Amino acid sequence: MKPMLIAEDLRLERSGREIFHIENLTIQQGEVLALVGPNGAGKSSLLLTLAMLETPSGGVVRFAGEAALNGNRLGMRRRMAVVFQEAMLLDTSVQRNITIALRIRGVASGEAAQRAQKWLDRFGIGHLARRPARQLSGGEAQRASLARAFALEPEVLFLDEPFAALDYPTRKALLNELGPMLKGMNMTALFVTHDYTEIPYLAQRVAVLYEGRIIKCGSVVEVFGEEILSRRIWVPWED
Ligand SMILES: Nc1ncnc2c1ncn2[C@@H]1O[C@H](COP(=O)(O)OP(=O)(O)OP(=O)(O)O)[C@@H](O)[C@H]1O
Ligand SMILES: [Mg+2]
Repeated sequence: MKPMLIAEDLRLERSGREIFHIENLTIQQGEVLALVGPNGAGKSSLLLTLAMLETPSGGVVRFAGEAALNGNRLGMRRRMAVVFQEAMLLDTSVQRNITIALRIRGVASGEAAQRAQKWLDRFGIGHLARRPARQLSGGEAQRASLARAFALEPEVLFLDEPFAALDYPTRKALLNELGPMLKGMNMTALFVTHDYTEIPYLAQRVAVLYEGRIIKCGSVVEVFGEEILSRRIWVPWED
């Protein structure tokens, strides 16, 4: 096992308040770590800090063996991708939402167009490539957002409650597709969720954050017990 992302004595303070203090947290290469905890525990703040979108007040984040510093944070950020609860699509076509993100990262336009189509197809929305992104349904928009993240070929994928705004059938369909996709690509990911039933679909390990501290960390079964494995998302017309 090779550590991909390490937080060491990592702290974030805002307005004179400590938002989190993480003594040690490691995400191994190829593993999906779920991060759970109540509202306000600091999950999003920790995710943003690990994704180099927030600068910590103390401690260090190591990414692929290298400590993040002011001089290399932007470069590291560009090797990662984040999907939020809101799809955050630009007011242009679905395809351009992806190609713009790729062009910013220096991908040539032909290659960007090809990658965009490949990932839209993989997420089952290839036929929506030319549609204005703002016209998509919630589920389609989140598929587009995931396609954009995957098209970036990130070394770490961050998911901050990406399914929270979706209905159960849409959620279940996406989780069923995403699980094998992450595994097949050996993707390293941090998955923040409120809904524990989502965890076994994607994650191997879980960290529980409470008032800014990791109070528990272990395999999905160690943290939740065997029952979690049989609690699948229930869709009345499928069962
Ligand atoms: N810029 C900021 N200034 C002051 N306080 C902040 C700032 N950003 C976040 N906080 C506070 O930090 C705490 C953690 O917020 P965060 O959004 O990380 O929690 P969360 O676990 O993601 O919650 P939720 O489950 O509601 O998404 C909250 O109390 C929040 O009000
Ligand atoms: Mg949050």
